[in-house]
Amino acid sequence: MNLDELKRQAAARALDFVKSGMKLGLGTGSTAKHFVELLGARVRDGLDVIGVPTSEATRQDALRCGVRLTTLDDVDRLDLTVDGADEVDGALNLIKGGGGALLREKIVAAASDRMIVIADDSKWVETLGRFPLPIEVVPFGLGAMRRAIETAFAASGVSGQLVVRKAKDGHVFVTDGGHWIVDAHLGRIPDAPHLARSLSVIPGVVEHGLFIGLATTAMLAGAGGIRVVEPR
Ligand code: A5P
Repeated sequence: MNLDELKRQAAARALDFVKSGMKLGLGTGSTAKHFVELLGARVRDGLDVIGVPTSEATRQDALRCGVRLTTLDDVDRLDLTVDGADEVDGALNLIKGGGGALLREKIVAAASDRMIVIADDSKWVETLGRFPLPIEVVPFGLGAMRRAIETAFAASGVSGQLVVRKAKDGHVFVTDGGHWIVDAHLGRIPDAPHLARSLSVIPGVVEHGLFIGLATTAMLAGAGGIRVVEPR
């Protein structure tokens, strides 16, 4: 089975947790896209849900699939967010933001009672950090911010190259919120909660891709079936 089929399987399993009347956070990325498509099919069969998309791409996908949308201004809490991840560890801490949507993804996840992570099992890691950690920044003062980020890295026992993300056309990648992303090639993050706290207090860092304590369940699809993981 190829990776895309595994992603679709994980998405299908998450759909079992969706009930009529729910307010849903809709994630971003290739796995979340499968979930939105499968959700759309259920909506056409009569399922009554409303969603908050975590990116402009997901907004377009949801509209195309016939999923009703709202905003976090119009609803208070969400029942459930279903989203992909770039890495998942045993505590269900995540690296997210490979698709550049980390800011809205984190806002939506934090406004949700539950977050189900859907992924193929290649995303499962012992220790976070092999996937470059996305850090969303405002372009102003990038040099000073880099130095502050490197100081935060040192305090958390990590180091690595910081690379401003480029889009496919070679220009700087700009997020839905109009910010830039710096990808940190760390290799290994021994204390992700510590690093998350250190990055969050740097002026100009809008958000980072460490999702600590937000995911409540992970559905990991592999050759042997789907593994459902709760935080240890
Ligand atoms: C988007 O910004 C990301 O957080 C995605 O959720 C993550 O990159 C997983 O994407 P895939 O499902 O495409 O692997």
